[in-house]
Amino acid sequence: MNPSEVETPPFRTIRQLDLEGKRLLIRVDFNVPLKEGKVTDTTRITASLPTLRYALEKKAKLILMSHLGRPDGKVVENLRMKPVGEALSRILGLPVQTATDCVGPEVEAQAARLQPGQILLLENLRFHPEEEKNDPQFSKALARLGDLYINDAFGTAHRAHASTAGVAEFLPAAAGFLLQSELEALGKVLHNPQRPYWLILGGAKVSDKIKLIDNLIDKVNGILIGGGMQYTFFVAQGIGVGNSPVEKDHLSTARQVVAKTQQRGIPLLLPLDHVIADKVAPDAQVKITDRPGVPDGWEGVDIGPKTREAFAKALQGARTILWNGPLGIFEMEPFSKGTRAVAEAVANCGAVSVVGGGDTTAAVTKFGLADRMTHVSTGGGASLEFLEGRELPGVVALAKR
Ligand code: 3PG
Repeated sequence: MNPSEVETPPFRTIRQLDLEGKRLLIRVDFNVPLKEGKVTDTTRITASLPTLRYALEKKAKLILMSHLGRPDGKVVENLRMKPVGEALSRILGLPVQTATDCVGPEVEAQAARLQPGQILLLENLRFHPEEEKNDPQFSKALARLGDLYINDAFGTAHRAHASTAGVAEFLPAAAGFLLQSELEALGKVLHNPQRPYWLILGGAKVSDKIKLIDNLIDKVNGILIGGGMQYTFFVAQGIGVGNSPVEKDHLSTARQVVAKTQQRGIPLLLPLDHVIADKVAPDAQVKITDRPGVPDGWEGVDIGPKTREAFAKALQGARTILWNGPLGIFEMEPFSKGTRAVAEAVANCGAVSVVGGGDTTAAVTKFGLADRMTHVSTGGGASLEFLEGRELPGVVALAKR
């Protein structure tokens, strides 16, 4: 059974464990962006605070573990956890010790010396190839560091790795508050949405979203499509899109989505106009089309003003909105208006709004609107897989305990 389908989670939560004086091995997802040795977005660190503060209040000894980037089983100097530890220390206002590794006698001794209320952040788990292989010996070595295991890494719950799945075999295990709240919020839009329920889709590829569409098409009352994926829909209808990205081997996928919405009698709104540019760069020459389609020599980079208005109007009266994927190349200011307008419409329409992680989370954060959404997921791949109806190995491992 998919753990999201039940009201009471089929696993223990942190509140159900006695934490006092215990070494608490907590898997967090501190896979955060770094620039010149500094964390540039602390969203995921902040999201772990309820669990960390609770554990500190209960006088536990905190041993935190995470991956950072994809070092592929080798030590990569600029993927060390130290800057993450510094950011966490700043945010918590407490000292955070860092370790030179995540397993082995030295780290075990460091963990054993911890006093209640102290925090140790282990070195990047993915410096060891055994982590991604979910190697039982490596899971055991991690388990030696703690008395109890807490998984609060929703963003990595779709990976069956030693620190997210294997280690739960060797210690009493429970979910942290972030993992729990993500599963509740995303579970609600999957199983208990209030209607009208709108799905907003963007991002580069229709192929990335097809399983999500398949899982939700019978549940939603309407779909809005923008971002890079829209151009495949236009080409599938015989409309030219210039240099815009098109998945030529997914034209039939796009046609099937249109046919399914027609069968169900629900609206599928595609852009009515576009912001187009002669190149994807902040200093590009920019124009707005007066109809769907992009002329030769130009590339679509955002939805146009008529579309912004139409999409905002469609969302008025929505009771639930699930949003996955930006509507344009929002990272560049001249191409960000569409994503911003939709973010404002979602924030203002009063619906339960769930933002499905990754780039969409980065967009609402950039626009200062994250606090106006009901739930902003910290998981990109994890939220997508969950919403596709797939089981998350990190959650299954807790459920087995
Ligand atoms: C993420 O950023 O989505 C998670 O931290 C998982 O990272 P991964 O895709 O490298 O497993």
